[in-house]
Amino acid sequence: MPVEVVKGDITKLSVDAVVNAANSSLLGGGGVDGAIHCAAGPELLAECRTLGGCKTGEAKITMGYNMPCKYIIHTVGPVWGGGSNGEENLLRSCYKNSLELAFTHDCESVAFPLISAGVYGYPKQDAFDIAKEECNKFLESHDMKLYIVVFDDRGLNL
Ligand code: AR6
Repeated sequence: MPVEVVKGDITKLSVDAVVNAANSSLLGGGGVDGAIHCAAGPELLAECRTLGGCKTGEAKITMGYNMPCKYIIHTVGPVWGGGSNGEENLLRSCYKNSLELAFTHDCESVAFPLISAGVYGYPKQDAFDIAKEECNKFLESHDMKLYIVVFDDRGLNL
């Protein structure tokens, strides 16, 4: 089955892993990162402190704590700088590396927010199209239930 697009708040989903659009410190922030830390509770920040940050395009995994999910996969999207700084490949790497981590942790269901499409300024429709493409590419060779969670669908052709 191809990736499913759902509207709503990613912190409420009962899936094996929720992906967080984090920053390289992994120590929390606003947007979906703030919502996830708020929902998971302070133990999440304590585990994140042990991880030594995360580079753009890479991903790290923690437990889900008070969230309904088992794991949280933290990935750092690129900051949009006009498109000539490798943003697209870095964004694709976020999805690839997150999915690889989910697979090695035996996750059967994973939910993604639109990485980089908020504070980091990636054009929303492009960010959405990349999310869909990378999820569907992964599903060609893996059996998993994947969701893209859209918080605010204004200006999006879903
Ligand atoms: N559920 C699903 N999607 C959400 C939620 C939610 N609860 N809240 C926001 N979104 P952003 P970025 C959507 O800014 O652009 C943080 O401060 C939102 O509408 O959260 O990757 C980090 O610490 C948007 O479409 O992430 C970093 O510093 C999408 O999630 C920085 O922001 C991503 O928006 C990362 O920026």
